[in-house]
Amino acid sequence: MSAGVLEVRDVQKTFGAVTAAKDISVSVPKGAIYSLIGSNGAGKTTFVNMVTGYIKPDSGEINFGSRNIAGLAPRLITRLGIHRSFQIAQLCNELTVEENMLLAGAIHHDERPSFFRHAHSAAARERAMATLERFHIAEHRNRLIPELSGGVKKLLDIAMAMAGETQVMLLDEPTSGVAADEKFPIMDLVIEALRAEGVTVIFVEHDMDIVTRYSERVLAFYDGQIIADDTPDEVLLDEKVQRYVTGGPA
Ligand SMILES: Nc1ncnc2c1ncn2[C@@H]1O[C@H](COP(=O)(O)OP(=O)(O)OP(=O)(O)O)[C@@H](O)[C@H]1O
Ligand SMILES: [Mg+2]
Repeated sequence: MSAGVLEVRDVQKTFGAVTAAKDISVSVPKGAIYSLIGSNGAGKTTFVNMVTGYIKPDSGEINFGSRNIAGLAPRLITRLGIHRSFQIAQLCNELTVEENMLLAGAIHHDERPSFFRHAHSAAARERAMATLERFHIAEHRNRLIPELSGGVKKLLDIAMAMAGETQVMLLDEPTSGVAADEKFPIMDLVIEALRAEGVTVIFVEHDMDIVTRYSERVLAFYDGQIIADDTPDEVLLDEKVQRYVTGGPA
């Protein structure tokens, strides 16, 4: 069997008395779409933070291709093609949508990022607009962030994460803060854009309808451990998952 694009082996992380990751091992095949479920504090964001370099594991390996990236700086991991969005969209409120997108482009593409040099490059501006169009938010390009709906903010955060050459995308709660009737349209758009480029996707989600509809495989977290790793149907039938995550049969 060929190794996954991302191979996590025996990763551990504690914060004082709290075990946020215990014996975490998972193999994610290239191009797969995984979801992470689990109640508050189960360790989902910690997993995302460790894969993207925001938190250094105490021990264990995170292999991407032939390289162990555990503990590398986020900037270096981004350069390798592992990108992320955040549970709360990380946007610069004082800038417009287009300027935020240009800023992300500068960070992803320039060896020594310079917003001003980037904003004056016709190619960079074209690339930024193309990404905004792909995520159907180009019409908002001249608006400031506080004027945007929760859904548009989430789309912009994900579009910004796609500014470089993405191989693996980790989305931390892409539908949180999004109105109920916007959740499916947003996920349709995001998953279609990522699938079209063959990106491997790992997304954190609390809504089981979204988990079932968009992921091929589910990792269920509880108390820093993975208690189930299987297809959505199997995971939602799992007795431990029903007890500790979903609160009962779907
Ligand atoms: N930087 C940190 N410092 C101290 N404790 C932390 C830190 N990050 C996470 N934790 C703790 O680790 C545990 C796992 O947190 P994590 O944020 O990974 O949970 P989560 O599954 O993402 O939860 P949620 O659904 O609420 O976002 C929690 O007990 C949390 O308080
Ligand atoms: Mg979280």
